[in-house]
Amino acid sequence: MLFEIGKTSDIPEGEVRRFVADRVEIAVANLGDGTFLAVDDICSHAEASLSEGEVDVDDATIECPRHGSTFDLRSGRPRSLPATLPVPTFPVKVEGDAILIELQDR
Ligand code: FES
Repeated sequence: MLFEIGKTSDIPEGEVRRFVADRVEIAVANLGDGTFLAVDDICSHAEASLSEGEVDVDDATIECPRHGSTFDLRSGRPRSLPATLPVPTFPVKVEGDAILIELQDR
């Protein structure tokens, strides 16, 4: 199911914002050139909001603000410790200036 969560102008290039769709907290990063990637906002290691972390546009990663694990924004896999489990990823579509997130029916 597709949810419109915001506008492309809501997320400056190189930054990340938190959105909620169907009670799922989602961190959406703007990598530039119209590329937006979405992962679950909650770190897989402990209770931390990835949308408060730093995006690395070149690596397509986000760094957890709490203990510093970096996560691949495409696969959700951690690239550094202490996190060892991936975070869920969500397909993103951009239609005009709308950002749409696909969530599985639950
Ligand atoms: S809470 Fe994210 S790395 Fe520990």
